[in-house]
Amino acid sequence: MENKTVYLDNAATTAVDPRVVEAMIPYFNENYGNPGSMHSLGLGGQVALDNSREKISSILNCSTEEILFTGSGTESCNMAIKGVAHHLGKKLKKGNHIITQKTEHHAVLETCEFLEKEGFEVTYLDVDRFGMVNLDDLKNAIREETILVSIMYANNEIGTIQPLEEISDICRENKILFHTDACQAGNYLDLDVEKIGCDLLSLNGSKIYGPKGVGLLYLRKGIMITPLIHGGGQERRLRSGTENIPLIVGFAKALEIATAEKEGETERIGKLSKKLTEGILSTIPKAFLNGHPEKRIVSNVNISILDVEGEAVLLYLDHRGVCASTGSACTSKTLDPSHVILATGLPYEAAHGSIRFSLGRNTTNEEIDYVLEILPEIIKNVRGISPVNLKAEDFKEYLSEANKKISLGVVA
Ligand SMILES: Cc1ncc(COP(=O)(O)O)c(C=O)c1O
Repeated sequence: MENKTVYLDNAATTAVDPRVVEAMIPYFNENYGNPGSMHSLGLGGQVALDNSREKISSILNCSTEEILFTGSGTESCNMAIKGVAHHLGKKLKKGNHIITQKTEHHAVLETCEFLEKEGFEVTYLDVDRFGMVNLDDLKNAIREETILVSIMYANNEIGTIQPLEEISDICRENKILFHTDACQAGNYLDLDVEKIGCDLLSLNGSKIYGPKGVGLLYLRKGIMITPLIHGGGQERRLRSGTENIPLIVGFAKALEIATAEKEGETERIGKLSKKLTEGILSTIPKAFLNGHPEKRIVSNVNISILDVEGEAVLLYLDHRGVCASTGSACTSKTLDPSHVILATGLPYEAAHGSIRFSLGRNTTNEEIDYVLEILPEIIKNVRGISPVNLKAEDFKEYLSEANKKISLGVVA
């Protein structure tokens, strides 16, 4: 195990599945036609595009016209939120208020902050200590001017799954559009947009063993948005630019595989996550699980370890061949503690010691054993040089024995 890479950062990105690579290859150098061209090579591209849209729409339980391909999850979230804000808010003057919550990915938070500078008002709902939004808070935040609610499906840092069906009911009762960022949900949760009840949904390829640089926006029929990108009129004139056929084909194939393997992988990875969590909590003192104990993505194990710098632990782990993360990969290059962990109410000094292990399709039982074997010693070393010594009694609520017996692997 010492000379092997143990990749436990699947929430940051996944390896591309070899079956996906195989499906993509012909579209780079054989069937490379532009779907907009009139000749047979172009037609080949159009067929691949149509087939991919067909596959994805059957998984999302929507019509093909409701799927718009984009260049990433970030782009999809921008397209959804700015698109609705600019159409309903600026053009139709229906209102200028958006509701989201504090543990969203930066793709949503920064988009909302950008819109605030344009004059929109945004409510950022608090979450509880498990990262859950409160439905009464949501109801109370709704105003006459509210045009959009954007609440993620599953959190990328702590794995918490939000109650989307209830959120959707509230939005429908109040005739407000509902967008969900589902970028972390594709491997483990149901993406049926009718069951979820969302009007817009963002998804990407890079978390589901597909290629990076491709995403989609599900846009319910009849909803108008203002496009971000103008040009040749592709994707129903809502996202211009020559369609990236190899990546789209790979995305569709990846989603197809993830859907077929969802049940088995949820069970297998759930067991490994449970073993990892319980193993860490029983061998390392002053440690606790972040996120919801049950309503969580099975692949996510986010642990706070008091009196350590998460970054120091990561370096030690990396030295022993283990790739993990302190938060979302996009923010872990800054030294600020995670906005998600802070939003769950942990104090600044404790938020610094959170480590995210995100398991995946290639994770094995031996890899989990290896992490459990090396981690206690690493923590001992890091604590040995740490100036911090937090009082366990200040974290009683988190460190209780009851919190160590977690029924992980239950996906709500
Ligand atoms: C929940 C969530 N939303 C959005 C994104 C952004 O996706 P992309 O990297 O494809 O832009 C990510 C990726 O980290 C994510 O985890």
